[in-house]
Amino acid sequence: MNVTLKIKRYNPESDQAAHWETYALTVHPTDRLLDALHQVKWFHDGTLALRRSCAHGICGSDTMRVNGHNRLACKVLMQDVTQEGGTVTVEPLLGLPVIKDLIVDLEPFFAHYRSVMPYLVNDEPLPADGRERLQSPEAHERFDHGTKCILCAACTTSCPSFWWNDSYVGPAAIVQAHRFIFDDRDRAAEQRLAVLNEESGAWRCRTAFNCTEACPRDIPVTQLIGEVKQALVTGRLD
Ligand code: SF4
Ligand code: F3S
Ligand code: FES
Repeated sequence: MNVTLKIKRYNPESDQAAHWETYALTVHPTDRLLDALHQVKWFHDGTLALRRSCAHGICGSDTMRVNGHNRLACKVLMQDVTQEGGTVTVEPLLGLPVIKDLIVDLEPFFAHYRSVMPYLVNDEPLPADGRERLQSPEAHERFDHGTKCILCAACTTSCPSFWWNDSYVGPAAIVQAHRFIFDDRDRAAEQRLAVLNEESGAWRCRTAFNCTEACPRDIPVTQLIGEVKQALVTGRLD
């Protein structure tokens, strides 16, 4: 089908501000948006800058704003975002500085991620047999959602609270905190909850649900944030 790709372009070396460029393409309905972007880069304008790696929805590097919604370009089929003669708009993520074209600076996002200690903390001696710390399937289930996160930033950069104030740690960091707070092998829940109880923490979430809508891994992000808020109020991890 014949479509137009409307891409927000910005080159810091030559542009005062971002501007839109359009590209007329012929694509298969089942092509992915990433294929269409490659068509632009390889056959129309090699200066187009975008991130991608796995091309299979795993690495989380090609998150962008597609028709106003955060999506992984490698998971979007052209037939799902346009039709014959239609236009697809593609922009960089909101709320983070644009480096060039569709590439944003993710460092502020990863700084929030690091602030919640996204790793297992347990200094207690290993079990007597010297093997791993065992965990029941039920105990694992308690935090299983968060283990599916690919740190694509789609949730945090779709959150109005984050757009308003980027000191908010954001939903992705809270999902990562949840993953360890509710892990019965971990011993640093209190420290993480203290971070999330600060002004820039979980209370900045106003349950807008954009994060849940944007998540390509179908993680119930808003629900997990609610569970963290409940732990903050009750002081219990049930
Ligand atoms: Fe991406 Fe979902 Fe993880 Fe947010 S919770 S970073 S949207 S995978
Ligand atoms: Fe933002 Fe999601 Fe809360 S979009 S306000 S973190 S429910
Ligand atoms: Fe890896 Fe799309 S390129 S998730």
